[in-house]
Amino acid sequence: MDDKDLLSNDGANPHFAQLLTALSATATTRRRLLQAGLGSAALSFFGLPALAGPTGRAGIGFAPISISSDDVVRVPDGYIVQLLYAWGDPIADGPAFRADAGNSAGEQAEQAGMHHDGMHFFPWLVDGKPSSTHGLLCINHEYTDDGLLHPDGMVDWSHDKTRKSQNAHGVSVIEVELRESGGVLRWQLLRPSPYARRITARTPIRIAGPAAGTPDMRTRDDRRGNVVFGTLANCAMGHTPWGTYLTCEENFNSYFNGLVEPTADQKRYGIRANGAGFRWHEHDSRFDVATEANEANRFGWVVEIDPWQPAQAPVKRTALGRFKHECATVTLASDGRVVVYMSDDEAFEYLYKFVSSDRFKASEAAAGGRLLDDGTLYVARFDGDGKGRWIALQYGQNGLDPGNGFADQADILIRTRQAADLVGATKMDRPEWLAVDPQNGEVYCTLTNNRKRLVADAANPRAENAFGHIIRWREEQADAAAGVFDWDVFVLCGDPENADAARRGNIKGDAFASPDGLWFDRDGRLWIQTDASGSVLNRGDYQRLGNNQMLVADIASGEIRRFLTGPKACEITGISATPDSRSLFINVQHPGEAAGGRSSPSAPLAGSGWPANQFPGVTGGRPRSATLVVRRADGGVVGS
Ligand code: FEO
Ligand code: CA
Ligand code: CA
Repeated sequence: MDDKDLLSNDGANPHFAQLLTALSATATTRRRLLQAGLGSAALSFFGLPALAGPTGRAGIGFAPISISSDDVVRVPDGYIVQLLYAWGDPIADGPAFRADAGNSAGEQAEQAGMHHDGMHFFPWLVDGKPSSTHGLLCINHEYTDDGLLHPDGMVDWSHDKTRKSQNAHGVSVIEVELRESGGVLRWQLLRPSPYARRITARTPIRIAGPAAGTPDMRTRDDRRGNVVFGTLANCAMGHTPWGTYLTCEENFNSYFNGLVEPTADQKRYGIRANGAGFRWHEHDSRFDVATEANEANRFGWVVEIDPWQPAQAPVKRTALGRFKHECATVTLASDGRVVVYMSDDEAFEYLYKFVSSDRFKASEAAAGGRLLDDGTLYVARFDGDGKGRWIALQYGQNGLDPGNGFADQADILIRTRQAADLVGATKMDRPEWLAVDPQNGEVYCTLTNNRKRLVADAANPRAENAFGHIIRWREEQADAAAGVFDWDVFVLCGDPENADAARRGNIKGDAFASPDGLWFDRDGRLWIQTDASGSVLNRGDYQRLGNNQMLVADIASGEIRRFLTGPKACEITGISATPDSRSLFINVQHPGEAAGGRSSPSAPLAGSGWPANQFPGVTGGRPRSATLVVRRADGGVVGS
């Protein structure tokens, strides 16, 4: 047992005090907390092993599977895969999916969006305990393939097609339950459900925090600068101790038609003329920068959704900064302040964390969201000696003042990238997901790849980084609010048989590359999902790596084993489990994706026939992104 274990099990640490507060809260608060996942099986927010679960690091118990280039999902022997929720499935009593993509824009607003990405399972409360058979799933729909979305693709681009595309973006909230039918246990959507809803690129969303209402956030349609229609490019996510979901706006720039001569600020965010491949601006002028200069300032944020309050508008939390947000992984500092780890997924962008000013109090859980409106945003610098530092992006500090072009804190938050440039943050190899080890608070981050890197540095140690790596850090005193940390590289990905020694990596176990999704299960196994682009899969450097996949790492031994392989040209992304870890939810995004992300409507199945080719009775006609549930045939803990 080392000092990390001692900390995890130290009954006197402040996390434990918070737990006690939570468990002695009023009945209403307690119900909410438990629904939020703060039940006995989900105490990882507090850095504690689950009371009812095993203590210590659990190992990996399945036999690894081979790589695959086939058009199906494969899992180890003894596991069952169920298709739960595919693009076009009704969220409740709505219209069924049409194989010819003939559903209207209005129907799409009552159906699963396209391109499932990050998600989280929020358990129901039964007799005071979080359920592992009933809950709400929040699922991001990152973007659309408009070649598949409309019967004839993007020809005769219209207002209706724009509306359908907007309605296929955003988030699904669905109510799901594990039920027995004919002697077989299957997860099902509850239809109808009072919680079921779609949040789309057209849903009214409140803007909160320091940038709300400021001049750069005002538009012709919203002169107060505090309400925006929609969220989009919803990549990965987070969830809070008060039971809400955070959805992250990533590649928002590609929805805006920029100026022929963009401003420096627009350039820094990639907002350029003819850069709007989705063509929304042709029928919705707020996406045309020449018509509405400030609308682009209202995207690129973290958005909070309360799945338990279906009538409540989501909220863009501007204190968390504006960039191409991949995910927002929440933990608590030693003193109870809320810490959100975040990443900006583009080559040479940065890692961030937000620390709230106030502490999370279980007795005030219902008002938890306000904690995300007031705090300090930091950006990471990784030094060559294995140390690192969090640099505050705070007005008046570190040169962030009018002398360097920053007028106030709102300005810093709207132009977060430029603020981070000024303070000397470390340029990373496309940071994607972040995961906090429930057993010791160490933070892991996938750096998916960066072939554009010419010069290696300590934290990004390979030039032309074709395969990516996973970095990790340990905050000083294991306190998430600390200003400094120690870091190392957990693994360099690659193909151990690559002719170029620099590209082989140092994986102990099964080969993979382009890590993206990353998640710790309750027992401390690290799950890794890959997103190599279709242009490299199964060829060249990636010849021996197969389709995108999911693996499990044993942190104690460093061993990594392949658990799942996906169908053709998909990415595997999104992962969450029931509190008992016996049902694992994962997403298959964009099976069969064509180069450039747009399929031919005349040959919709050219890239993949999934999922209809694998699951009998599923409507096909198009490849469909989908949520799967993976369970063990004997009902055991997944991965054990
Ligand atoms: Fe949407 Fe960076 O993945
Ligand atoms: Ca991703
Ligand atoms: Ca990715």
